[in-house]
Amino acid sequence: WSKSDLTVLGSKIYYYSITGSTNEDAKKLAREGVPDGTLVIAEKQHKARGRMGRAWNSPDGGLWLSVILRPNFVPMDAPKLTIMTAVAVTEAIIQTTGIHAEIKWPNDILADGKKVCGILTEMSAEMDAINHVIIGVGINVNNNDFPDELKGIGTSLKQIKGENINRLALLSALLKKLEYYYIKAENEGFHEVFEKWRSLCINLGKKINITGKNDVFEGTAIDIDEFGALLVRTENGEVVRVLSGDVSLR
Ligand code: BTN
Repeated sequence: WSKSDLTVLGSKIYYYSITGSTNEDAKKLAREGVPDGTLVIAEKQHKARGRMGRAWNSPDGGLWLSVILRPNFVPMDAPKLTIMTAVAVTEAIIQTTGIHAEIKWPNDILADGKKVCGILTEMSAEMDAINHVIIGVGINVNNNDFPDELKGIGTSLKQIKGENINRLALLSALLKKLEYYYIKAENEGFHEVFEKWRSLCINLGKKINITGKNDVFEGTAIDIDEFGALLVRTENGEVVRVLSGDVSLR
């Protein structure tokens, strides 16, 4: 694709045919001082990580990438970059494939009710300044093989569409969307991203179960607040903020 449309994203690109984890590579590169917007991308990962210490299945055919960002906002704003990425991925999938992709809070992208993309954001901050944020994105594009434990839970864009998807077109659309929202966020904040997120999220207005470390509770997801926390109205009418944990639709 043409990098000429982009000013920040892909300012430097590290491409590997195989690596352990692009998030790990990105972490090392970030410490070495690579610029804002550096992209690390691999055809295949053998030690990829997902959220909550899980492994992430990364065979040939997917898009496995990490972006190193050095934003000028405070650490508390970093989770908003995950929301921004979820919106950018979902819009890029819709735009390039026509598949009706949706966001499941906090940051899974679903299509046909199954997971097609996961996002793992990791931050390094000192005092009240962000040093760097690594946004890891894994999209099941043309990969077909899912281990038994993912059958029924994960799918790929190819499986949904019944044909190969142009990975470069999808990557290009994703980088353009990410750059647009990133520059906008630095200049004007996250208002537009949050509005888009609301229209793409499947949880809002629905009954959900929140599975935390030690407990499960039920409620109705009503909105996200300005920090990206999910607001859930419990059965006794109380509104609680949920920052992490797994959300499952009832
Ligand atoms: C999740 O659990 O949903 C998040 C999955 C994130 C996977 C991506 S693939 C590219 C990057 N490198 C990693 O090791 N993980 C992320």
